[in-house]
Parts: sequence; C-alpha cells; structure tokens
Amino acid sequence: MKRLIIVCFLLCFPMLATASGGSIELMKSGYDIHDKDSLRKGAKLYIDSCASCHAAKYMRYQRIAKDLEMTDEDVMTNLVRYGATKLSDTIPSAMTAEMGETAFGVAPPDLTLEANYRGADWVYTYLMSFYKDEKASTGYNNHLMPDVAMPWVLAYAQSSKSEEEFKTEMRDLTNFMVYMAEPIRPYRENMGKYVLGFLVILLIPTWLLKNEYWKDIH
Ligand code: HEC
Repeated sequence: MKRLIIVCFLLCFPMLATASGGSIELMKSGYDIHDKDSLRKGAKLYIDSCASCHAAKYMRYQRIAKDLEMTDEDVMTNLVRYGATKLSDTIPSAMTAEMGETAFGVAPPDLTLEANYRGADWVYTYLMSFYKDEKASTGYNNHLMPDVAMPWVLAYAQSSKSEEEFKTEMRDLTNFMVYMAEPIRPYRENMGKYVLGFLVILLIPTWLLKNEYWKDIH
C-alpha cells in the first residue's frame, strides 16, 4: 500500500509541475469577488482587450448585468460586441478557431473557465509576466508560459501607466475572470455566512433540549 502511494505521488508530481507551465513563483492576485466596482472594471477590460480573440461562451450578458448590478443599457453599450446583439447572448469572440490558428498557430482558448482551470494567481501572474523578446515572433514572451503564441495586447497600456495602476487593472481583470468561472460563488459565500449563523442559533435550543432530556436520566 505504502509503495502504491509513493508511486502515485511520483507519477502525479511531474504532472502538477507541468500543468502550471513555467516554473516561476506565482504572484498573489488579491482578487475580491464581492467588490462589484472591480468586477465591472474587469468586465470592461475583458471585452475591450481580450474578447476580440477569446470568447467566453458560457457567460451570458444578462447574468453579468444582474450580478454586477449594471443597467441593461450600460451592458448593451459597453459590453455587447463582436456579433452579439442582445442581452441573452453569450460573450463571443471576433475570431473563429481557424482564423486564430492561421494567425497565431494556435486558436485562442475560450476563457470562461480559465480561472478555475489554472487558478486566479496563475492568471494574474501570466498577465504580469510578459516581457520584450526580440526572438519571439510577436516581439513579446512570457515568463510563466515560455514561447507563448499570444501577442502582448496590453503592451501599450502597461508602458503608459504606473506599475500600481496596471497591477490594479490586472487584479480587476483577474477578478472578473474568477467571477466568470463560477458566477454563483459570491452568492454561495454569502449564503454560507447565513447558514453558519443559523447553526449557531440552533445550537442554543438544541443544548437546552438536551439538558431537558437528560435531567431525568441523571
Ligand atoms: C490577438 C489575440 C489575443 C488577444 C487579444 C488576447 N489573447 Fe490571450 N491568447 C491568445 C492566444 C493565441 C493564446 C494561446 C497561447 C499559446 O497557447 O501559446 C492565448 C492564451 C491565453 C491564456 C492562456 C491559456 C492557457 O491556459 O493556456 C490566457 C490566460 C489568456 N490568453 C488571457 C488573455 C487575456 C486576459 C486577454 C486580454 C487582456 C487576452 N488573452 C487577449 C490570443 C489573444
């Protein structure tokens, strides 16, 4: 049994190591899915800078409007793009998989579940890890995902802002991607607090009842 566990561990270890791509230490994203203002900014950034290549086909605009407390007009004007026409549409991308493959050699993946698949800190670190590299076909490379095919679309934004400002934007963007990967999560976490509160209150009558029952037995 012991040997089996060791073998499993040894087999899993390289898989875990390669699953994260490069070997640099991950930065803390510091995201907060209860911060609606940050989520709204992240949504705008996603649509403006990422959705041209990356669809999020499991996320519906309607849901964003409701969860992020945005008006329908606001969502229609600022977030509905690239062939989407109504609130019941999901987030499309401006490019087909074939176009992506022709342009970058690999189709940009759908990012709805990316933050769950890779983890929030991975996404944040990835966005913070692009650097100039003359040998790369796009002129940029990434410490976390070496030889990445994605062009560094925020190069200008990054160079024209202070580091703090850019970090905040990437935190907002990561935050939105975390929310998008599991939109029910803020609700679930809030519900968890009520459930715990309820259990604590329930403890009092349960304890009194227990005393009452045991009185005769003692
Ligand atoms: C011009 C097209 C394009 C744009 C715009 C773009 N990406 Fe990408 N992205 C790609 C391509 C192509 C890949 C695949 C890279 C590879 O596999 O080497 C990719 C890969 C990724 C990955 C890694 C996926 C994985 O787990 O393997 C993440 C995360 C990502 N992009 C996030 C973003 C975010 C966030 C934005 C917006 C700031 C964005 N991308 C904008 C083309 C794009």
